[in-house]
Amino acid sequence: MTVREILKMGDPRLLRVAEPVAEFDTPAMKELIADMFDTMHAANGAGLAAPQIGVNLQLVIFGFKQNARYPDAPQVPETVLINPILTPLSDEMEEGFEGCLSVPGLRGSVPRYVKLRYEGVDEHQQPIKRDVDGFHARVVQHEVDHLLGKLYPMRIKDFSKFGFTEVMFPDLDPNDDD
Ligand code: NI
Repeated sequence: MTVREILKMGDPRLLRVAEPVAEFDTPAMKELIADMFDTMHAANGAGLAAPQIGVNLQLVIFGFKQNARYPDAPQVPETVLINPILTPLSDEMEEGFEGCLSVPGLRGSVPRYVKLRYEGVDEHQQPIKRDVDGFHARVVQHEVDHLLGKLYPMRIKDFSKFGFTEVMFPDLDPNDDD
């Protein structure tokens, strides 16, 4: 088990556009994906993008049954999504609070598409195509944004809804947000 260091906002490596993955089922890719799950689980994250550990590839993971950082969130299937394409299925957007392992201790309300289709491949290059909504759609948009060099604070419209988790959500365990 290898928990990798998660880069924090301000690191220029989080601002790069990620490169497509071209190799599958190699020892290096298997190790990278295993390390990403170890890192995400160690931090109780809902998702993690490869650029967050300094790997500039179009690879994100997400999913959980229950998540301490988002106790009210419905479960999201554990997913490895590579070379993703997102297509909104309507113009409807909604605000919702997000945090990020690269932005520890803070939460902000971010507008996201309510319904979208995501396509890509998994770690074995098998196609993935899902139509999702709500929190699942939000998580995917947040993670795929990391592949575009975008962190959620860059998407905030109403900065009155951006602040410290311990202040805005005092019932959450602060150890789950650093
Ligand atoms: Ni994030």
